[in-house]
Amino acid sequence: MNETLRIQQSHRSIRDYQDTPVSDAMLDQIIAAAHRAPTSMNAQEISLVVVRDAERRARIAGLSGGQAWIVKAPVFIAIVIDFHKTDLGVRKAGQTQLIHESMEGFGVAAVDAGIVLGTLITAAESLGLGVVPIGSIRRNPQGMTDLLGLPPLTFPLVGLCLGHIKDDMPLKPRMDIGAFRHNERYDASGYAAAIDAYDTTIMDYWQKIGRSDGTSWSDNLGNNYKTVYFPQVRPVAAMQGLLNDK
Ligand SMILES: Cc1cc2nc3c(=O)[nH]c(=O)nc-3n(C[C@H](O)[C@H](O)[C@H](O)COP(=O)(O)O)c2cc1C
Repeated sequence: MNETLRIQQSHRSIRDYQDTPVSDAMLDQIIAAAHRAPTSMNAQEISLVVVRDAERRARIAGLSGGQAWIVKAPVFIAIVIDFHKTDLGVRKAGQTQLIHESMEGFGVAAVDAGIVLGTLITAAESLGLGVVPIGSIRRNPQGMTDLLGLPPLTFPLVGLCLGHIKDDMPLKPRMDIGAFRHNERYDASGYAAAIDAYDTTIMDYWQKIGRSDGTSWSDNLGNNYKTVYFPQVRPVAAMQGLLNDK
């Protein structure tokens, strides 16, 4: 196995970090890697806001529901949908941008943001750093928008904590790969058995790492997916001018 595959197949989220800062040289390399990521139509409609200031990270932690690792990790990178940038180009071309009012717009930006997130993760892990993505910035997207100074046609989609690892974690098991990879045609016939097996596996994992509050995959999703857990996404995105009615 080569080094890139080894790093990718060793991914685990890290939520405990040393005080040691991440050097500018490391951070520049990580961001340069994500800057090269593919982007649909070469739109480059993603921007990053790097937050290193401890007081601002503490405010992000508060907005994200009090996640202590955002305070501990010395670097937080917010991944922002940026149809403000593209609007400038569209206007320059004498046209009126409409894509930000569509499902396609939010979808394509979410895909590009995900590629940026994944690239940041691999780059950071290749330097021995630990990371954890933070979707909970969507808990209070208006607060994040204000904190980051985001203009209309932008939206804070996801963040990433980065830092030197203090307490490492074992790999979190995944559902059987047969419930992930389908050959030629989609086939859900093995799902029920894979879910049963995984519910047992994940409970064993929680026990192994001493997490008495750990729930099965099914119960976890049952608790979270029975509601729209970040209900502010739609209204705040709409206030930012990002609609999904086209
Ligand atoms: C888009 C995205 C958002 C996430 N948001 C959070 C978050 O807000 N807080 C957190 O602690 N972990 C968050 N995670 C980490 C997941 O919980 C983690 O990836 C998952 O449990 C699998 O564990 P692993 O990364 O250690 O393999 C997020 C992961 C992704 C990909």
